[in-house]
Amino acid sequence: MIRSAEFKQRRKQLMRQMKKHSIALLASAPAVTRNRDVEYPFRQDSDFHYLTGFDEPEAVAVFAPKRELGEFILFCREYDETKAVWTGRHAGLEGAREVFGADEAYPIQELGKILPQLLDGRRAVYYPLAAEGELPRQIMAAVLEVREKARAGAKPPTEFIDLDSLVHEKRLFKSEAELQLLRKAVEVSILAHRRAMKTVRPGMFEYQIEAELMHEFMRHGLRSPAYSSIVAGGENACVLHYTENSERLDDGDLLLIDAGAEYGNYAADITRTFPVNGRFSEAQRQIYQLVLDAQGAAIAEVRPGKRWNDPHDAAVRVLVKGLVRLGLLEGRISKLIKDEAYKPFYMHRTGHWLGMDVHDVGDYKVDDEWRLLEPGMVLTVEPGLYIPASCLHVDSQWRGIGVRIEDDVLVTRDGCEVLTSDLPKTVAEIEALMRIES
Ligand code: GLY
Ligand code: MN
Ligand code: MN
Repeated sequence: MIRSAEFKQRRKQLMRQMKKHSIALLASAPAVTRNRDVEYPFRQDSDFHYLTGFDEPEAVAVFAPKRELGEFILFCREYDETKAVWTGRHAGLEGAREVFGADEAYPIQELGKILPQLLDGRRAVYYPLAAEGELPRQIMAAVLEVREKARAGAKPPTEFIDLDSLVHEKRLFKSEAELQLLRKAVEVSILAHRRAMKTVRPGMFEYQIEAELMHEFMRHGLRSPAYSSIVAGGENACVLHYTENSERLDDGDLLLIDAGAEYGNYAADITRTFPVNGRFSEAQRQIYQLVLDAQGAAIAEVRPGKRWNDPHDAAVRVLVKGLVRLGLLEGRISKLIKDEAYKPFYMHRTGHWLGMDVHDVGDYKVDDEWRLLEPGMVLTVEPGLYIPASCLHVDSQWRGIGVRIEDDVLVTRDGCEVLTSDLPKTVAEIEALMRIES
């Protein structure tokens, strides 16, 4: 649980960083219709949750530093008893103030009326400039209204600044409370991956294994995956974001599972690749071991003072050397790396920031340089090799093999902590786990 004091501290910090005489606005995620009378499960916008903890649609948060009547204003749905009976609990204006710490709360319908007063006298307005939805238009309408009253002394804002970078820089560094949520998401995701490894048998379908993952997530109260689970047997593993999960799992194939649960709005993101029948073939083992070695080399580069690209470069070096050794590439290592000759087999980066969004926010470069890793950052380390069956120029033993191994890693003061280290990953560990009858 993130305590209300932490949400408050985030707002204070944001307001301290804003320019003098400025104001910031942020809209909640919308409720999205799936089909007639049915909505998708609601998931709050990550920035909105980060600053407010308020998980309802139809809300706008306003941060107005040094405003006498209060700095944090929440526009939201008024409490409606009928709504409470039909569609569930909601905070209402009183809850917005008492539970979520708003200094003032107004019905969302009054935003248009009140916004011009809030903007009057503020020189700069922060909001997500690329935001979808109504908010940018509502802000501009309010600015025009203030402008029209300029002769009566009103002072319209003249500067519009993207709110994202202020919030995202802060989100990049995880607090203890955030790490607790992340650890829980990871813990349950590990149980789910273990369950999948123990359950799979030749002849089962990919969706049956997806069901095992979901079962484990849900029985721990984690009702949503952080992203659509990838359950990819055999060659399907070569489709990076394969989510059809509809095919039969054959004896002799590998199964790649990329799945993580979401807990308290924090995402786990884990990939393991293992044999459907519990035993790696020789060719599979060689490719797997190569990816595992590359991952080890990458993780060894995760510590303060290293740059964002160091783990990726380390993984690429190991992969290229191995591909040459196995006869999948030919030539000088340094030239193959420079020419990116590995890209047909390894076409993605070795990781990304991880947090509330599975591909979390935060800059990867600062002043045109790859950014330095610092304690409190969380990233994935996920090299892979993908050799589709259509890859006719390589020896047939390698064709149809796709492997990715993905762990979630916290940068600590003196190195890193692999948050997902309890999930088997060596050939021996995986084969041993799969021998245990479920
Ligand atoms: N699950 C998506 C990714 O690994 O980036
Ligand atoms: Mn990932
Ligand atoms: Mn993943």
